[in-house]
Amino acid sequence: MAAAIEYKNISKSYGSNVVLKDFSLTLEKGEFITIIGSSGCGKTTILKMVNGLISPDSGDILINGRSIRNQDLIRLRRGIGYAIQGSVLFPHMTVEQNISYVPNLINKKEKQKTRTAVSKWLQTVGLDEELKERYPSELSGGQQQRVGIARALAASPEILLMDEPFGAVDEITRGQLQIELRQIYEETRITILFVTHDISEALKLGTRVLVMDQGKILQYGSPEELLCNPSTPFVKQLVHKTRRT
Ligand SMILES: Nc1ncnc2c1ncn2[C@@H]1O[C@H](COP(=O)(O)OP(=O)(O)OP(=O)(O)O)[C@@H](O)[C@H]1O
Ligand SMILES: [Mg+2]
Repeated sequence: MAAAIEYKNISKSYGSNVVLKDFSLTLEKGEFITIIGSSGCGKTTILKMVNGLISPDSGDILINGRSIRNQDLIRLRRGIGYAIQGSVLFPHMTVEQNISYVPNLINKKEKQKTRTAVSKWLQTVGLDEELKERYPSELSGGQQQRVGIARALAASPEILLMDEPFGAVDEITRGQLQIELRQIYEETRITILFVTHDISEALKLGTRVLVMDQGKILQYGSPEELLCNPSTPFVKQLVHKTRRT
């Protein structure tokens, strides 16, 4: 079986700033991969390479065994959910229109099917059906974040990219969103790449954790491996932060 995502000898620089150098990593299908590392180490870069928002200078990325080089990027993106921090909803569209945006692109004629799906996704992310008609500005930060996740899931993607999706919400909402996301993962078993600054979140949600520093992989392993067998003093210090809290 092909891996979900393969980074093959990726290099990426901005001027003299080398972000990734000969970065290689294979991510198996159905894993919940959490990504953690200091600011500027390349987390967003590796996420955006999956849906072609950033292209490598050299090397290749394979999605389901196929290089993204010769693929129609718009089509590729429709099969990959993308949720990022803060409100990225279309402000002039209602909640329902936001969630059904991609499904409507894919099957224009099946309006009823899409409507039913919107209700399902609202329920999945713990939102009341009556919020459907509201605009993003009429929602709380946590509600907007949930709509963002519902929208990312609505196209039934095989891969879900999440860039610090819970960074801007309060602790209680964050805890609830973590539980909901983990449930969605258990039910769908889609491949998830989830960037976070919070090591407890990384260890709690991930089936695999990727620890990066300055564009390099320090460790890629299960939460247990990181805790019991940290690869470097940096990883050891990082995971021990959670033990004290
Ligand atoms: N368009 C750009 N032009 C120039 N430099 C960039 C650009 N995008 C990113 N960078 C630089 O590339 C490096 C990696 O950026 P990236 O966004 O991947 O970091 P990150 O790990 O996601 O950081 P953070 O945790 O702060 O979000 C940083 O040094 C950043 O300044
Ligand atoms: Mg980032």
